[in-house]
Amino acid sequence: MNGRELAPYTCVAEDVVLGSDVRLAPFVNLYGCAIGDHTRLGAFVEVQREASIGRRCKISSHTFICSGVVIEDEVFVGHGVVFINDRHPRAAGADGTPLKEGEWRLEPTIIRRGASIGSGAVIMCGVEIGASAMIGAGALVTRNIPANAIAAGHPARILRIQTSDREGTDNAD
Ligand SMILES: CC(C)(COP(=O)(O)OP(=O)(O)OC[C@H]1O[C@@H](n2cnc3c(N)ncnc32)[C@H](O)[C@@H]1OP(=O)(O)O)[C@@H](O)C(=O)NCCC(=O)NCCS
Repeated sequence: MNGRELAPYTCVAEDVVLGSDVRLAPFVNLYGCAIGDHTRLGAFVEVQREASIGRRCKISSHTFICSGVVIEDEVFVGHGVVFINDRHPRAAGADGTPLKEGEWRLEPTIIRRGASIGSGAVIMCGVEIGASAMIGAGALVTRNIPANAIAAGHPARILRIQTSDREGTDNAD
């Protein structure tokens, strides 16, 4: 993408750092984040402040990437994936005062290079998904997943370790 030429209904705050040739579908909402070169974001993707997405990633529609999530290069994220950064969320304190920024604890998450996350997965806070790992559709990831593992289920468990990096790339579109 060139400068700030946006698809209709796409919101990119002034403080967003966009790499070169980033492709943003309509209804994308970005603020305070960084998106690397040649990365593609589908419709209705939201990326919050202090989240970062590397180069040559594909983030499919309806995915939510919250503050504290770091996605390295060449990561695939399916449709409707939800990241979490607050393990014990509250709207207000015991006295009913709405909680402000800094009054809750953010737990960061990192997705290593070349990993894939299937559609509908939920990624709990404070986890690391290893390089080239693959997370099944609908998984609930609560613990670290090692490099090259294929994991799925509720909670996600390792099904097997891939025999080669990025198994399945032979028939990718
Ligand atoms: C997890 C995944 C990578 C496994 O693929 P695979 O290695 O070819 O595995 P198989 O289909 O041979 O299934 C192996 C076992 O895991 C189970 N399984 C597969 N996917 C699963 C999932 N998402 N959640 C829970 N269990 C799953 C299968 O039922 C099977 O169980 P069984 O041995 O008891 O019969 C794949 O099923 C998946 O979910 N891919 C993500 C797809 C996606 O979201 N794409 C987004 C773009 S459209």
